[in-house]
This record gives sequence, structure tokens and C-alpha cells, in this order.
Amino acid sequence: MAAEASSAKWNVAMIPPQAGKMALVTGANSGIGYQAALELARHGAHVLLGCRSASKGLTALERLRKEAPGAQAEVVELDMASLASVRAFAEAYVGTGAPLDLLINNAGVMALPTRETTVDGFERQFGTNHLGHFALTGLLVPALLKADASRVVTVSSLAHRNGKINFDDLQGAKKYVPWDQYNESKLANLMFALELERRARKSASKLVSIPVHPGVSTTSIFSNGPGTKDLKAIMVGLLAPLLFQSEEAGALPTLYAATSPAARGGEYIGPDGFQALKGAPAVEQPRPQALDEAAAKKLWTVSEDLTGVVFPPLS
Ligand SMILES: NC(=O)c1ccc[n+]([C@@H]2O[C@H](COP(=O)([O-])OP(=O)(O)OC[C@H]3O[C@@H](n4cnc5c(N)ncnc54)[C@H](OP(=O)(O)O)[C@@H]3O)[C@@H](O)[C@H]2O)c1
Repeated sequence: MAAEASSAKWNVAMIPPQAGKMALVTGANSGIGYQAALELARHGAHVLLGCRSASKGLTALERLRKEAPGAQAEVVELDMASLASVRAFAEAYVGTGAPLDLLINNAGVMALPTRETTVDGFERQFGTNHLGHFALTGLLVPALLKADASRVVTVSSLAHRNGKINFDDLQGAKKYVPWDQYNESKLANLMFALELERRARKSASKLVSIPVHPGVSTTSIFSNGPGTKDLKAIMVGLLAPLLFQSEEAGALPTLYAATSPAARGGEYIGPDGFQALKGAPAVEQPRPQALDEAAAKKLWTVSEDLTGVVFPPLS
């Protein structure tokens, strides 16, 4: 375990200077993504706030500039539920020739009560949380490899523990169960991040991939997804002050993985408190299904087929 992560109670004051680094945070207009973007910008990174809504993005940017005067930040239009949007952003970015030091795969939706689909016809949770980020990462590899030492941080969840990659009905077309679909998408995030790291190490790549989870953090994902009538969401609301953590604290695993010199590729970072619900960043053991390398390879191939994005060599 990285000593810095566990014993010294890692916090934002320990973020090293980020000046000269380019960072992209998806879903940066609220919650954990906003807090991660804010702290990266506060520490000198040039931060791209990837947002599906330009107006929400601009409101977040205004707030960020107030909270971190002088920050270098801008909004970029990026809808993770649209491969055309992902491709347009990534191709434009790679076209500038600029390196990308930090990619924070954060945007997400949770437990949508009825089955919805993305622009491309994917089930919305699997499509947004996993496929969109799979495609984005693959398309941004050329920019990530231009950086001296790039990091890809992918936000998974405690929910991966209940997840199963249901290859027979990956997108809940036969039977849609909102939480099962979320759990699967978050397991997919974790398996993707670990498989990316394995591939990167095999290629002696400069890129490292680090999966994280925020514990449970009181963000708008609960009201936006399951809504106020969902039993789990009601429980979360009631227990929140006792058991859960702020969105600032929920961003700490992401920020640790993105910036700490002690963070290692392939380590799974989450809060160190009771049941990993809250606390300071520490290394955590993923559930066995996340470590199934054959399933991860299969998921990778399926994701390539579905998105049409084939990763280029990682070095
Ligand atoms: N909060 C928790 O306890 C918890 C626990 C485990 C994991 N997570 C993970 O943490 C990540 C961040 O969630 P959060 O808790 O911070 O919730 P949040 O405040 O609702 O943030 C989610 C962000 O994702 C964005 N988003 C959703 N669909 C998008 C799309 N198609 N394209 C681009 N952006 C999109 C949202 O934008 P809009 O405002 O436009 O909707 C929002 O900015 C998610 O991946 C979630 O699964 C959260």
C-alpha cells in the first residue's frame, strides 16, 4: 500500500504543483468532477471542463474562477452519450498537437428508472459510463502519449462489487434492472482501467491507468438518476450526514490518483474509512470479478466492436 495514501491522511494540500499540465475532466460541471477540476486548476493545471451542456459548463466555469482566481480553465463540449461528440472533441484535441497529461474519466449517470438509450442506441448507463469513456480514452491516446507521463483516472464505484458483466444481455435489452445496469457499468469502468494498465505495462508505455472510487458522496447523481422515490436514494438521503462524505472529499481519490507521486498504475484507490464509504484515499482490493483478465479482454473487444474505436499502440 502506498504509505502516503494511508497513514498521512492525504488531502488537497499535498497536491504537487500542476503548472504546465493539461487536464480533461469529463462531467466537470458538478459533484466530484467539478471538485477535481477545481483543485487541479487551483494547483496550476490547465483544465478542460468536459460538459454535455454548454450552459451548465459555463456556470461551473464562473464558479470555478471565483473559487480559484487566476485559474486556467475552459469549457469543452463533450457528450459522453454520443460517439460523434466524443470523436469530434478527441479529433480536434489531437489535431492541435498538444499533449494531454491527465484524463479524468468521471462523467456518469446512475440507476435511471426506465431504460433509456444514447444517441448511438446504447443503454444509457453502459453507454455513458463505460463505452463513451472507452472511446474517448482510445481516441486521445496520441495526445496522452505526447505527455511526459500521462495518467488516466477512471471513476468506478463500490457498486462494482455487485456488478456482473452480462455478456448475453450487456445493455439490458432483454431485462432492464436499473441498479444492475449501473453496477455493470461501474464494474466495466474498473475492468477497463485495469486492462488498460496491463496493456500499457506490456507496451512499456509512459501512460498509467488508475481506477478510483469516491465511497459515497452526496452529489446530485442520486436525485438525477433514481430520483426521490427510489428506496436506495431515500436511504442515502437519510443516512447521508452520518455515513457519507462531501463532494470535496469524494474527489480525493481522483485527485490522489491524478497527482500523487506515490500513486501507482493499476492500484484501485478509494476512501479508507468504514466500509470504504468515506475517508482519505487508500489502496483497496477490487472484487474478484474485476480481476478476471479473460472477461476484461472480452469486454475490451466488445467495446471496440460497439464503438468502432480500436486503441492504437500505447507506446
Ligand atoms: N456520488 C457518489 O456517491 C458516487 C459513488 C460512486 C461512484 N460515483 C461516480 O462518480 C462520478 C461522478 O458522479 P457525481 O457523484 O459527481 O454525480 P454528479 O454530480 O451527478 O456528476 C455527474 C456528472 O456527469 C455528467 N454527465 C452525465 N451524463 C453525461 C454525458 N452524457 N456527457 C457528459 N457528461 C455527463 C453530469 O452532467 P449533467 O449535469 O449535464 O447531468 C455531471 O456533470 C460518476 O461516474 C459516478 O458513477 C459517484
